[in-house]
Amino acid sequence: MKIFKLIFASVIIAVSITSSYAKATNSTQDLKSCKIVSIKPMRSFLESRGKKADFEGAVFLVELDNGIKAVFKSFPKDDLGDAYGEVAAYEASVLLGFPSIPPTILRKINGQIGSLQLYVETSIDPLEPGIFKETINEIDPEELDNLKIFYFIFNQWDTGPHNILITEKNGRKHLIAIDNSGIKNHAHVKYGDLPFVRICYSEKLKTNDWDKPFPFEQARDIMDPSVDNLKKTFGNRLPNSFYEYYKAYGAPLHYVVYQNSLWRQYHAHEEGFMKSHTLNISEKTRDSIKKLDLHALKKVFSCAKGADSFTPRYLEAILERRDQVLRALRANK
Ligand SMILES: Nc1ncnc2c1ncn2[C@@H]1O[C@H](COP(=O)(O)OP(=O)(O)OP(=O)(O)O)[C@@H](O)[C@H]1O
Ligand SMILES: [Mg+2]
Repeated sequence: MKIFKLIFASVIIAVSITSSYAKATNSTQDLKSCKIVSIKPMRSFLESRGKKADFEGAVFLVELDNGIKAVFKSFPKDDLGDAYGEVAAYEASVLLGFPSIPPTILRKINGQIGSLQLYVETSIDPLEPGIFKETINEIDPEELDNLKIFYFIFNQWDTGPHNILITEKNGRKHLIAIDNSGIKNHAHVKYGDLPFVRICYSEKLKTNDWDKPFPFEQARDIMDPSVDNLKKTFGNRLPNSFYEYYKAYGAPLHYVVYQNSLWRQYHAHEEGFMKSHTLNISEKTRDSIKKLDLHALKKVFSCAKGADSFTPRYLEAILERRDQVLRALRANK
């Protein structure tokens, strides 16, 4: 009886995995080939559904001729790093088996290339006060741990309720990771801390430290990073475009200057911010992350072939972060 149950269970698992894989394959095919029948700004769509909007980019809700809805994010032609990041994050989730990321492809719509991601219908709004925290405490801990592992290894630093969807199935809540374009950024991080993300490069910084390790211990703060205060510190060593586009979010700038770049640790002074760190990893997850190697990563990032950001060093940094996780697990035994 036991054996029968086991065989039966594995048949069901095999069927459900195969069918969800088949569904994802169908979805990516549909996203690629179905005709677009309508396109509207995401902000007004969310508001019409009584949902909060917390985002800055050019995001559109698109309807395809087979009735499927999708989310199109358009980017400037000369900077498709975000779009590649979105697609690669989805490909990485397929390779690892976690986290849940809706199928995502590259597509040209109205002359603009961008990422096109399956729209996920939800009834819970993570941006309503208290909902995100409540959900984090309710969901299967393994699902949350896997999400944190993905965020850390792939350097998705832009985390939080604004980039999560919450679905509910059979009375159980699940997290869907959206807006994963942040993985395109180079970063330095120690497992257990928040990453320092490269936000600006300037040869005028003349750091002359190419042979040195990342100086975590030299991190500094600008508590009120108004453009005036930033200029007092960096003057013309940072380009004008940095000052034009710099967003303070009202938060102090916790930063390091290294290899002619400014590296920012987002959320540095936010108490209670959920770090992408866990020491609870299932055998299955450990096996999945061990599968990562340069060959696998090149496949994951194949959409970005030839793009500036995704250098061999960038790919090696992913493996280095994975090794940090494995070392931390060994040390915790
Ligand atoms: N696949 C999806 N399914 C359902 N809703 C989505 C999906 N992708 C995005 N959204 C909705 O659109 C909003 C904006 O998307 P997203 O966060 O990707 O935009 P963004 O401009 O890159 O954000 P940010 O300002 O954080 O960089 C999300 O907060 C969410 O409400
Ligand atoms: Mg977002």
